[in-house]
Amino acid sequence: MPPIKIHGMIDPHTHLRDLDWSHKGSFASETKAAIAGGYWAVFDMPNTAPSTIDDALLSDKLARIDKSAYCDWGLYFGASQADNSAEYESIASRVCGLKMYNNSTTGDLLIASSAMRERHYRAWTPNRIIAVHAEEETVANILDLVRKYRQPTHFLHISSEYEIKLLTQAKQDGLPITVGVCPHHLFLSEDDLPTLGAFGLMKPELKRKSDQRALWRAIRLGVVDIIESDHAPHTIAEKEADEPAYGVPGLETTLPLLLQAVKDGRLDLQQACDMVSLNVQRIWRITPLPKTYTLVDADYHYLVARDQLRTKCGWSPFEGMRVCGKVLEVWIRGHKVYDGDQVLSPPGFGRNLFGFVA
Ligand code: DOR
Ligand code: ZN
Repeated sequence: MPPIKIHGMIDPHTHLRDLDWSHKGSFASETKAAIAGGYWAVFDMPNTAPSTIDDALLSDKLARIDKSAYCDWGLYFGASQADNSAEYESIASRVCGLKMYNNSTTGDLLIASSAMRERHYRAWTPNRIIAVHAEEETVANILDLVRKYRQPTHFLHISSEYEIKLLTQAKQDGLPITVGVCPHHLFLSEDDLPTLGAFGLMKPELKRKSDQRALWRAIRLGVVDIIESDHAPHTIAEKEADEPAYGVPGLETTLPLLLQAVKDGRLDLQQACDMVSLNVQRIWRITPLPKTYTLVDADYHYLVARDQLRTKCGWSPFEGMRVCGKVLEVWIRGHKVYDGDQVLSPPGFGRNLFGFVA
């Protein structure tokens, strides 16, 4: 088969780390990993250390990533429990959206009270996405807010049959929502935990096979809009500690896992490509500049192994799995930034897709 051409791959759900967590990953190391994984752009979550919850912290992060990123990027602003909605007016034009953590995970961002969730929904007037971490019954709570305030809302890392049921109904009701699913919930389940140990721990957790089947069914029915990696590097020592960190890397394995599913007849090729490019562009309303694409040799098979990975954390929950597809070239805005072996763009080449840094 001739190489596949994908126009403008974006992963809108990554944790690049950097700042006080540079030992896990940096804007430089993880944007390089993104390019090697085929991506044009990545959007970074606000649960960094420190969290991105005011104008000064956002401005500092923007300045730092602007100097070091190898691919294009966007940053989320974090909704905080101590109401920070007064910041929205000044920050909105520079971010890809607002991230609201409604269930607990890595970092200290968590909005547990319905009243505070509603305050953020009421205050977020910019025409930009609210991306939510909501699990199980929290999904229903957020849907009530979407029904009331009509804010375009992206549901991140949907992982259970119950959540899919709620979101399918909400889409039928015409709510302005979109659904993202992660490769680890599609290709791993709780049955893998005895083998993976802490390397299989993330939020939301790995689920039952029946939940996994519901996710694949939702993909077939078009309920799932995008595949997002939730790339969340933690060091091997942090995963092996008594209280392991939650999260797994994924930028370099998402496309090969999806292409393997295509090979196995579980997924349509066009849909696989759309779920990591066009659909993301449509939701975040961005268009790649000309000559922004990825070429992939879909006939190339290999087993995922640590030593091929560029992510600073140096491991993958998918190690040993057979996958398909070698990224041959990545082009961004007319520049060849990857030749199948080396990242060719200089640090700072990457641009903010959502406004200027100043
Ligand atoms: O497992 C996770 N890790 N889930 C999240 O929502 C956050 C992430 C992280 O930042 O490590
Ligand atoms: Zn995440």
